[in-house]
Amino acid sequence: MTAKKDPYLYVGIDLGTSQSSITASNGKRHVVKSLVGWPLDMVAQKVLKKRVLVGQEALDNRTMLDFHRPLENGLIKEGSDKDLAAVKEILQHLLTEVGADDAAKVRAVVGVPAEAMRVNKQQLRKLLIGMVDGLMIVSEPFAVAYGTDALLHTMIIDLGAGTTDFCVMQGRYPTEEDQRTLAAAGDSVDEQLSSLMAEKHGDCQYTIHMIRQWKEAGSFVGEPKAKVEVEAPINGKPNRVDITAEMRTACESLIGPVSETMIDLLARIDPEFQGKVRNNVILSGCTSLIEGLPEALESTLDELGGGRVTRVKDPVYAGSDGGLALASDAADEDWEQLAD
Ligand SMILES: Nc1ncnc2c1ncn2[C@@H]1O[C@H](COP(=O)(O)OP(=O)(O)OP(=O)(O)O)[C@@H](O)[C@H]1O
Ligand SMILES: [Mg+2]
Repeated sequence: MTAKKDPYLYVGIDLGTSQSSITASNGKRHVVKSLVGWPLDMVAQKVLKKRVLVGQEALDNRTMLDFHRPLENGLIKEGSDKDLAAVKEILQHLLTEVGADDAAKVRAVVGVPAEAMRVNKQQLRKLLIGMVDGLMIVSEPFAVAYGTDALLHTMIIDLGAGTTDFCVMQGRYPTEEDQRTLAAAGDSVDEQLSSLMAEKHGDCQYTIHMIRQWKEAGSFVGEPKAKVEVEAPINGKPNRVDITAEMRTACESLIGPVSETMIDLLARIDPEFQGKVRNNVILSGCTSLIEGLPEALESTLDELGGGRVTRVKDPVYAGSDGGLALASDAADEDWEQLAD
């Protein structure tokens, strides 16, 4: 932490569609799947002995729960009070995990996809009343840029579950023109893989959660280095199936749209600086873990004279670490006060 002596615990929060993370100024970090469930009835209540379940625990017990994945396309789902309540539970869970309940006061930087800035800021603010004292809502790729000190002549591409968010950094706060959001991201890869499975292996049994696990274990683009084989029963009988080709097609579906937006944003930069930015493209978010993705995107820059695409060291915490870095540097007047 900085030298400032004050009563605050500072936290950076990355509120994500598939998982949310927090990094706190007391050195604690935590990540949780963005899933919430409330026991469905008296029986479930008796079995679970909890008011609410969050994260993997909610996923594992989902048959007993009113189960919610409250964020979609990077936004809190519209029109459902239960989804709002679920987001509140996730935020509370994260704050509790880093010991915020014991802190005198809490100041939070919350990173959201660029599009959510316009739509959901007000909702988020309301949810956080009573939980934090000071708030800053920033775009997720900007938080990553701040945390990795990539503030000048860089492009951050945050490949999450619900959205892929782009931000060009020109040494100042990014404006709307510097940012973009695409729906092509981890969830769309899952959907593709799911429909390819239905098409090619229609007799196999699987769920979207299994699809996601298979992807996280075997995702790649380009020439396969090894076969991707998974377990998917047929009529209840164990069955092993080779999904190498399907995995490749589903993952490669990202390259076109991501590259197109990257090139379009590059073309809008002052021509004198385009080369610098092209050589400083940084991927974050866990969909950036798809094997071969940085190289594949880099090769699409060849037609512009070449570039360099790298991946942040720690895609899980890059957003929340960046949020904390911003929180630690912010002046008193940068904070929005949230009254109880
Ligand atoms: N090794 C991996 N290979 C491919 N995809 C992965 C891997 N690990 C995680 N993912 C995918 O990354 C996505 C989650 O990434 P991340 O946590 O950055 O998203 P998020 O912040 O929850 O979503 P968003 O930013 O869109 O709101 C999921 O789709 C997940 O399946
Ligand atoms: Mg994210």
